[in-house]
Amino acid sequence: MTCLDYPDFLHIIVLEQCDSTNNYIKTNHENLRDRLPVLVTGSLQTAGRGREKRKWVSPRGKGLYTSFGINLGNSKNLNLLPLIAGISVIETLNRITGMQLTLKWPNDILYNNKKIAGILIENIIAASDIFCITGIGINLNHTAADFPGELQDKAISLKMITGLNSSAGQINPVLAAVLFQWLEKLKTGASEEIIQTANRYSGFLKDKIISFHHPPDNKITRGIFKGINHDGGLILENKEGSITIYYSGEIA
Ligand code: BTN
Repeated sequence: MTCLDYPDFLHIIVLEQCDSTNNYIKTNHENLRDRLPVLVTGSLQTAGRGREKRKWVSPRGKGLYTSFGINLGNSKNLNLLPLIAGISVIETLNRITGMQLTLKWPNDILYNNKKIAGILIENIIAASDIFCITGIGINLNHTAADFPGELQDKAISLKMITGLNSSAGQINPVLAAVLFQWLEKLKTGASEEIIQTANRYSGFLKDKIISFHHPPDNKITRGIFKGINHDGGLILENKEGSITIYYSGEIA
């Protein structure tokens, strides 16, 4: 098992409990601005949030609930951040356990097609910079019965795979180190490497028929997943062979 210290430039806040670690950063962003980057982790969340306004049920001792507050200045390729966050979770869990995980665009993390981690990114855009909140939830010690009924055949935890308990305290430093390595690549414009890596982790879906939900027009479209394009969009081919690139939405 790899053990790393937190990067020394990172400010760490450990909360006994909170409504949501993303909310904590949002509410305190004025105070946190001169202490960035910051990592906020909670032992439990009373109102954990997922994408598309879903709940992220967050009981004590079961999951990792961590958000990063990052000032991305005027970095280019901000739209690659969701991919970087997903890649970082995959590589962190691979370093710690050796397991091979996959990426379902934009940033669901899967093991054998079941979700083990999810990411919620929220931005506060000011005149001179972008304050970015990257919230990460990883299922650690759940049994199948710990997941809400509708998720029981769709979700999985590290413990269900390895049989071992793990803790956020053990995973957070590795996650932080890996994420900031990728953020450095984002800043230096290594977008090709980011896209190649995201395509490699989502290769299991390449050329497969998927159902794609695009909330802005509340439509589910079936098509063939052709991968991720140079600026992070999902490439979907319809049955007539024409291509649409999506920058929001999710694979159903
Ligand atoms: C999803 O897959 O729908 C995204 C889930 C994100 C959950 C994490 S847990 C830490 C952070 N705080 C939240 O309220 N949500 C994110």
